[in-house]
Order: sequence, then structure tokens, then C-alpha cells
Amino acid sequence: MDFFEVVTTQRAIRRLTPDPIPDAVLRRILDAAICAPSGGNRQGWSFVVVRDAATRARLGELYREAWGELLKLPYYRDASAAPPDSPVGKMVASARHLSEHLAEAPVLILACVATDGVPPTLTTGASIYPAVQNLMLAARALGVGSCLTTIHRFRDRQVKELLGIPLEVETAALIPLGHPLGKFGRPPRRPVAEVAFADRWGRAF
Ligand SMILES: Cc1cc2nc3c(=O)[nH]c(=O)nc-3n(C[C@H](O)[C@H](O)[C@H](O)COP(=O)(O)O)c2cc1C
Repeated sequence: MDFFEVVTTQRAIRRLTPDPIPDAVLRRILDAAICAPSGGNRQGWSFVVVRDAATRARLGELYREAWGELLKLPYYRDASAAPPDSPVGKMVASARHLSEHLAEAPVLILACVATDGVPPTLTTGASIYPAVQNLMLAARALGVGSCLTTIHRFRDRQVKELLGIPLEVETAALIPLGHPLGKFGRPPRRPVAEVAFADRWGRAF
């Protein structure tokens, strides 16, 4: 696929079929992930690729509990009351669907980053999320849907115990992968003219 078609049609795909993803496809996706930049080229990333049904089921339970925690936050409580056909309402419906069906995705990838025992900073995140984006773009290019999720962190201790992740490693994203039930397409975004400035803040590019 043309790169610009991939990058402009990659979006959160939360409705996935349970059909398996071949190992060769997963390897290509992970190979794209590890080409990402990281601070000092530390490459402190790890990817736990969960296909085992029982482990996915437990992650699904924890994710559903986390969704309950999220809805206690004022922003998401309000968002969940948005009209179902509004952009926010659609996003919440899609995210709720995932919270109820996460375990049905054939593959769940836990993207992790080493912290070397110091509290994580912006740079820590900047050393794993480019890899996550590479992973999702590669998936899209191969027709595989994905969604960057983070609410598992409401149950971080249990997730780490389940997967044997060391305490000094951060779980940065839980990414379900599967064939999309719906379609890829250009995501709704604020236009470039609104977010890009020419030479100084506030002057439209
Ligand atoms: C930092 C971050 C955390 C996110 N966490 C979640 C999450 O926990 N659950 C979820 O369903 N989506 C999550 N998302 C996905 C966003 O909701 C999604 O990217 C956004 O709504 C845009 O979707 P679109 O590309 O389909 O327009 C997260 C995205 C980011 C960047």
C-alpha cells in the first residue's frame, strides 16, 4: 500500500473478528515496531504478544474493570452521556464495545518500556509510543485493525502479575489486533491550518 494511504486511514479499530493472525504477519508488524526511534537508541521496549485464550480472557476481565474505573472520572462520565450519534458519543460506544469484547481479539500486545528504576518521564513515553505507532501503521498496511489503549493501567499490578512483567518495566499500551469488522478510513481531525503555525505561535501556516 501507498504510505500516505496507510497513514491517513489508520484509526482506532475496536470492532474486530476473532480470526487468527498468522505468525508471519505478526513478525512483520513487530519488525516495523522495532525500527522506531528511542532516546539514545536505548531500545528499552518489550512486546508481550498474548494469544493464549485463558490469558486473553483474564486481560479482558481486567480491562472491563478498568473501563468501570475510567467512567468514574468526570470527563468520561460526561462523555458517556453524549448523544450516541455525536463524535464523542460514537467514540464512547466504540470504546465501550472494546471494553466488553477485548478478549475476543485474537492477539493482544502489551507494549512495555524499561525505566531503569527511575520514575517515568515524557522521554520514557517518547521512547515507546513511536514504536506503538509503527506497529499500528504496519498492522493497517497489512489489513489488521488495532487501537492504542492505556486504561489497563488502572489494573497495572494485576496485569504485570498475570504476564510476569518486572516491576521496573512500565506497561505503556495494550493493543488489540484483529481483522476489522468495519472499515479503515480517514479519522476526524482538526485541520492543519488550525494546528500548524508559520514561524511563530498563532500565525496560521
Ligand atoms: C494515549 C492514548 C490512550 C488511549 N487509551 C485508550 C483506551 O484506553 N481505550 C480505548 O478504547 N482507546 C484509547 N485510545 C484511543 C483513542 O480514543 C483514539 O485514538 C482517538 O479516539 C482517535 O480515534 P480515531 O483515530 O479512530 O479517530 C487512546 C489513545 C491514546 C493516544
